[in-house]
Amino acid sequence: MSLKIRSMRPDDARAFLEVHHAAVRATAARDYPSDVIEAWAPLPVTEVAIERVQTNRGHEYRLIAEIDDRIVGIGSLVVENAELRACYVSPEAGRKGVGSALVREMERVAKERGLSFLELDSSITAEPFYAKLGYEVRERGQHILGSGQPMACVKMRKELGSRQS
Ligand SMILES: CC(C)(COP(=O)(O)OP(=O)(O)OC[C@H]1O[C@@H](n2cnc3c(N)ncnc32)[C@H](O)[C@@H]1OP(=O)(O)O)[C@@H](O)C(=O)NCCC(=O)NCCS
Repeated sequence: MSLKIRSMRPDDARAFLEVHHAAVRATAARDYPSDVIEAWAPLPVTEVAIERVQTNRGHEYRLIAEIDDRIVGIGSLVVENAELRACYVSPEAGRKGVGSALVREMERVAKERGLSFLELDSSITAEPFYAKLGYEVRERGQHILGSGQPMACVKMRKELGSRQS
């Protein structure tokens, strides 16, 4: 297995959304009601949605994970907010270390840009994943999706010391 982490290019926007949607609709669907899943990953993937990703109004630093040249994971970091915004892995590529590799690269970039910590709103699904990577629970609450739909989330934080977890 050849795993590669690289910066996202504009022509990756459709694959970015497809990985996001597959991860939500297959992996996270067991932890959330269908109205949340539909608001979180609406189908079909439209040209408008693709353009919105390409416009990147939130100034996200985006990463792509590829296994043997196939896009299987995505990550997003918002440096100005010290926020790890997203990490999603295709269901068929799960539990192979892809998510961990994406998070480690986002942490490396965050440190390189002078950040000493990262915060995130984790899904219920991803809490054990982030906990394994050294993120600690600050509080349990709600995350409001772009559509206005609330979803249960876990607010987590990690100090970016020299130790790698
Ligand atoms: C969470 C997610 C990104 C993890 O990606 P992944 O590539 O499968 O994660 P890794 O293989 O790097 O997992 C590393 C460790 O995290 C923990 N972990 C990962 N997924 C887990 C799960 N579902 N349950 C319990 N522990 C889990 C395990 O300790 C795992 O190590 P192990 O496989 O040796 O036991 C992926 O499952 C996903 O996309 N989930 C759905 C979308 C989502 O909720 N994303 C987060 C949005 S905030």
